Amino acid sequence: MAGITKQQEWQMLHNACMECTACPLHQTRTNVVFGVGERKSPIMIIGEGPGEQEDLQGEPFVGPAGQLLDDMLKLIGLDRSMLYIANIVKCRPPRNRDPLTEEQDACSHWLAEQIRIMDPDIILCLGRVAAMRMIKPDFKITKEHGKWFLRDNRRIMAIYHPSALLRDERKRPETFADLREFRRVLRISYPEMYGGGCWVE
Ligand code: URA
Repeated sequence: MAGITKQQEWQMLHNACMECTACPLHQTRTNVVFGVGERKSPIMIIGEGPGEQEDLQGEPFVGPAGQLLDDMLKLIGLDRSMLYIANIVKCRPPRNRDPLTEEQDACSHWLAEQIRIMDPDIILCLGRVAAMRMIKPDFKITKEHGKWFLRDNRRIMAIYHPSALLRDERKRPETFADLREFRRVLRISYPEMYGGGCWVE
């Protein structure tokens, strides 16, 4: 948009999103969960949709899955201030069910605009729902987690959702391997900025 800074554009998007009534999820929400973090970062993390705590606090990944996400980020030398976190849908689906296709369709333009303005180089999808939306509709998380895809010139990887890792700890070793691969690429792409963490190569 001519004459408008990215900061202003982002703020306008945020304000408009707060008023959204495009799908029935607005009727049961406490807060719209727009996203959180550093929008100038080259890294965006995309989850599925707000849960109970996120709905109450208006911020993504602040419940138990969020605590695990913070631990996972720490392993690869990252924290929330170094990236941006958003979701496929901005309002909580009742009882934490998967967002319906119609709800995702109604909401997807908010995320598309966030991605356009932020222009991240690297996207990490958390779970099947985000991967199916961002990578390909027939994405198989059990087979394709940890693999890199190129979409609109951005590198995208999906890993198991932290909630899945809380339910089934047997998935954790595979996710550790995926996170190491994620960090490997960060280290190559942004050697000064990213790629620390507790693992020593
Ligand atoms: N799960 C998600 O996918 N997103 C959140 O913000 C919280 C839990």
